[in-house]
Amino acid sequence: MKFDMKNERKSEKKTENQIEKLLKKMNLDEKIAMIHGAGLFQTGAVDRLEIPPLKCSDGPMGVRCEFHNERWIPIGNNDDNVTYLPSNSAIASSWNTELAYQTGHVLGEEARGRGKDVILAPGINIKRDPLCGRNFEYMSEDPKLTAMLAVPFIKGVQENDVAACVKHFACNVQETDRLMVDTIVDERTLYEIYLPAFKAAVQQGGSYSLMGAYNMINGTHCCENKTLLDFILRQEWGYDGTVISDWGAVHKTKEAAEVTMDVEMSVFPDFDQYKFADPLKEAVRNGEIPETAVDNKVRNILRMMFRLKMIGKDAHTRKAGTYNSTGHRKTALHAAQESMILLKNKTDKLPLDKKKIRKIAVIGQNAAKIHSDGGGSAEIKALYEISPLMGIRTFLGGNTDVVYVPGYFVPDKPKTFSNNWQETSLDELEGTDIGFAVENGPEESGNEQEKMEALRKEEQQKALQKEKDNELIHEKNKKYFAQALEAVKGADEVIFVGGLNHDYDSEGLDRENMRLPYEQDMLIEELLKVRPDTIITLIGGSPVEMPWRDKAETILWSYYAGMETGNAFADILFGEVNPSGKLAETFPARYEDCATAKNGQSGIHGSIRLSEGLYYGYRHFDKERIAPAFCFGHGLSYTRFAYSGLSLKQEKEGSESVKVSFTVKNTGKRAGAEVVQVYVAPVAPKVDRPAKELKTFAKVNLLPGKSQKVTLTLTKRDFAYFDVDIHGFAADPGDYEILAGASSEDIRLRGICTLL
Ligand code: BGC
Repeated sequence: MKFDMKNERKSEKKTENQIEKLLKKMNLDEKIAMIHGAGLFQTGAVDRLEIPPLKCSDGPMGVRCEFHNERWIPIGNNDDNVTYLPSNSAIASSWNTELAYQTGHVLGEEARGRGKDVILAPGINIKRDPLCGRNFEYMSEDPKLTAMLAVPFIKGVQENDVAACVKHFACNVQETDRLMVDTIVDERTLYEIYLPAFKAAVQQGGSYSLMGAYNMINGTHCCENKTLLDFILRQEWGYDGTVISDWGAVHKTKEAAEVTMDVEMSVFPDFDQYKFADPLKEAVRNGEIPETAVDNKVRNILRMMFRLKMIGKDAHTRKAGTYNSTGHRKTALHAAQESMILLKNKTDKLPLDKKKIRKIAVIGQNAAKIHSDGGGSAEIKALYEISPLMGIRTFLGGNTDVVYVPGYFVPDKPKTFSNNWQETSLDELEGTDIGFAVENGPEESGNEQEKMEALRKEEQQKALQKEKDNELIHEKNKKYFAQALEAVKGADEVIFVGGLNHDYDSEGLDRENMRLPYEQDMLIEELLKVRPDTIITLIGGSPVEMPWRDKAETILWSYYAGMETGNAFADILFGEVNPSGKLAETFPARYEDCATAKNGQSGIHGSIRLSEGLYYGYRHFDKERIAPAFCFGHGLSYTRFAYSGLSLKQEKEGSESVKVSFTVKNTGKRAGAEVVQVYVAPVAPKVDRPAKELKTFAKVNLLPGKSQKVTLTLTKRDFAYFDVDIHGFAADPGDYEILAGASSEDIRLRGICTLL
């Protein structure tokens, strides 16, 4: 599994020589210009040597609109609307590596089309706790699934001569107190859970850049963390790409300069005051920090620039990209279709038959809601966004009466929460050290009392606002509920479209609980009373409790699925497309069932100890034998699949690579796709290990009646755990059960293989 750095180096030897030549010509001012923001989204250029600035843009769901260079305000042009792609959580639910590649390709091509060099995506943090506000931007709770999707995504991006910037390295598990929170994690958990996707991203995906996270790990900020950056990333993984700080994640000049963190970006327009600007220049001049530290950073940036053909003899061949192409929209639609997850279809109510419907009632705010413009830095100025209601209307046409009512009341965002999330967060937090670094202030402001007071006030205000909102919601809902119950009368079908929105799934905040907001549970109960066959559909970025789930016959889940959400939604409801998404995270029945509910849930200040270790998500539910509402890997289809004939082949007896083969057959009447999942379960492990872990998967398309033999390979690493004594992965000899199935609980085939 070692990255072949030698070969890579050979072919790039010439480049390395060129880098050295350029470096020799540069003075300190020019080097310094390259390693910090000279605009909110770009570094400084060195015109004399024809080195351009590095232009960055968010984010995972599409290329963000243009901002003023010195203010967090969109310029407001009419030429920066883009293809709005499904969120990373949606892509992950497709369990389709080819689709991850295609989505990455669209993102990269659009980024290049918009003249960008670095696209700040994908988000590959592990979803430890369902309440983390940025979960919608991340892929999965599982490291292997995240890794297997991140790699093709990155490749897709980068083949457009644009760098992916995988984020946020590492252990960025919550939003509350995000700039200062200390994630305390043990070595085994770090290596088994929180690092593998990043390792795969840089070694297999070849990510040209990586974003250092805001938080601390074990007492040191990520962008100043020697263990994380120098030892793990550079030494162990052999990474020679560029590390870019999250915006405002550098706190101390010397510490950040001395680790292999290359580019400091931040949120203030006083670019010369960035730690890697005048303060670092000063420190080099007076001998506190050697200039070689700066040289190394410049080397990493120049290397990326050569790879991107921004400079050098190949510059004229650099791809130009494009945005808003028809092909991009097709990929957005396809990805949306494959991402939606049919959680329940007890009476086979879905798909609906268009011909049988004269009147349909659509109820719920998310039917008509536009989500692209929210969520924090992942916001998108979409070319368009088809809402579920629009999708249903355009699918059914004018002969069907589509009655829409919002069903429940959603208060406006509080005034403090303006359209421009990042700017607002600065205005509010500037001057305290709970926010971004203090402008012109001390390196690490330490006024604890002031900080606590500011926090207390902020929390008090929030609580007051929430109380007011709840009263208002309750009052207004009397009318809204009545309207909903009226609307269903005489309807052939009733579709509820609710869930979350970016007031809940957002950068900078964590949810307080896992319940549906705005009294939706009450409304759903009412609807199910009068229409037990109401089709419940939910849109959100992270799991919600569904206390009514036993009563509902039909439940469909969608993450934020991009500009084509509504069309994909209608395609699935009316059977144009057979659903094939599967949960990339566990949906607990109650938040209290989660390991994190008892142990450091998202939303606490100060430090967060990951003392649940490996046991969160399905690893925890397995261990405690708690049944979730919907398990990891779950998702239904309009057809059925049968599994048979498991065979396990070790090249020679006891060898470390195992070929797992079995046959999947579509036994139903419709074409469909099945995600087959392979888990490894150590039979009698010498050390504490999760009952089973996902190790590989494939998505298989099958016509009705057809079958296919699937062969997947497990490597030694798939049997291994991180042994802290040897500081490496160890696969102990012994028996391992190989489980193949349709979800983490729906295991269809079992076999044993023995490692010698
Ligand atoms: C976010 C990053 C984002 C950056 C630039 C930060 O607040 O954490 O994910 O890429 O801003 O907008």
